[in-house]
Amino acid sequence: SKEPIRVCVTGAAGQIAYSLLYSVAKGDVFGKDQPVNLLMLDIAPMMGVLEGVKMELQDCALPLLREVVATDDPEVGFKDCDVAMLVGAMPRREGMERKDLLAANVKIFKVQGQALDKVAKKTVKVVVVGNPANTNACICAKYAQSIPRENFSALTRLDQNRAQAMVAEKVGVPADAVKNCIIWGNHSSTQFPDVQHATVEKNNQKMSVIEAVKDDNWVKNDFVKTVQTRGAAVIKARKLSSAMSAAKAIVDHVRDWWFGTPEGTWVSMAVMSDGSYETPEGLIYSFPVTIDSSHKYTIVQGLTINDFAKEKMDITAKELQEEKAMAMEACQD
Ligand code: NAI
Repeated sequence: SKEPIRVCVTGAAGQIAYSLLYSVAKGDVFGKDQPVNLLMLDIAPMMGVLEGVKMELQDCALPLLREVVATDDPEVGFKDCDVAMLVGAMPRREGMERKDLLAANVKIFKVQGQALDKVAKKTVKVVVVGNPANTNACICAKYAQSIPRENFSALTRLDQNRAQAMVAEKVGVPADAVKNCIIWGNHSSTQFPDVQHATVEKNNQKMSVIEAVKDDNWVKNDFVKTVQTRGAAVIKARKLSSAMSAAKAIVDHVRDWWFGTPEGTWVSMAVMSDGSYETPEGLIYSFPVTIDSSHKYTIVQGLTINDFAKEKMDITAKELQEEKAMAMEACQD
């Protein structure tokens, strides 16, 4: 049987982790034959709660779950880890702007980048979920120089899933009949959800989403706006930010990174820009990617970008540049 892999989840006492830890421990991410050691990291005041989460995980009697560690020390949590899911951050409450959170949160990711650099495996795959996710990932990579930049990503899969589900509902098909929706840019309200290259299968016939929807106004306005502001809508309704759907998206993101994407299918991941599609290099920007069976992703090349898309892609890049500048400044203190 296989050796256990070491998976760290931060913010482990929080609401996303409460769904996520169970999924990871029962094999939804790394497969039903892959044992896992779970390293749960949170802050000191949450250690009591975290002990409770640990008890519950043990009480699930899951066959793949081996060691469970609860800690408030990043160097313990990241020790030799293969995968790090960085969920922990100060959460946004109703009416709060992402900017307010930026300074406080990037400092957390500076410390965690330094700890990863020191103790994690050099092959560690990192997904940042805590907001502002893209910029946090950028800072984390910056302070973990001994780990390749391509090992750092931020989550935009929830946005992709929202877009995909919305198109499926509009066309009247199950969610998995819709493929290759793209999220460009930042995980924020400036993101650009793009269905120009997406396809849908209806009545055994494959067609473009544009053809199936036949509503240009919806595609350019309602759809874009609704996906962009979905997070805020959930907070308004639930008084808490998305948790079940966020955990599910993290599972999708890491599973595809681990096992690869099916032929002809792309997924959106925020990764270090290499200048593709004229996006500024060095930003963690969401692109469509394909992933091979050795955990290597490639940004999908050669997609036609019309003027409408170009304008939207520039807006979100500009926001990321501003966030990065603010983050760098906050990290100097
Ligand atoms: P939560 O408040 O329930 O849990 C966050 C946990 O992180 C808390 O237990 C807190 O003590 C912990 N934490 C804070 N600082 C930490 C540190 N330095 N090290 C380790 N743990 C730390 O929040 P929730 O709902 O679980 O959300 C977590 C984050 O994910 C938030 O920043 C939220 O905005 C973000 N988010 C991102 C999404 C995305 O698609 N990228 C989607 C939904 C949420």
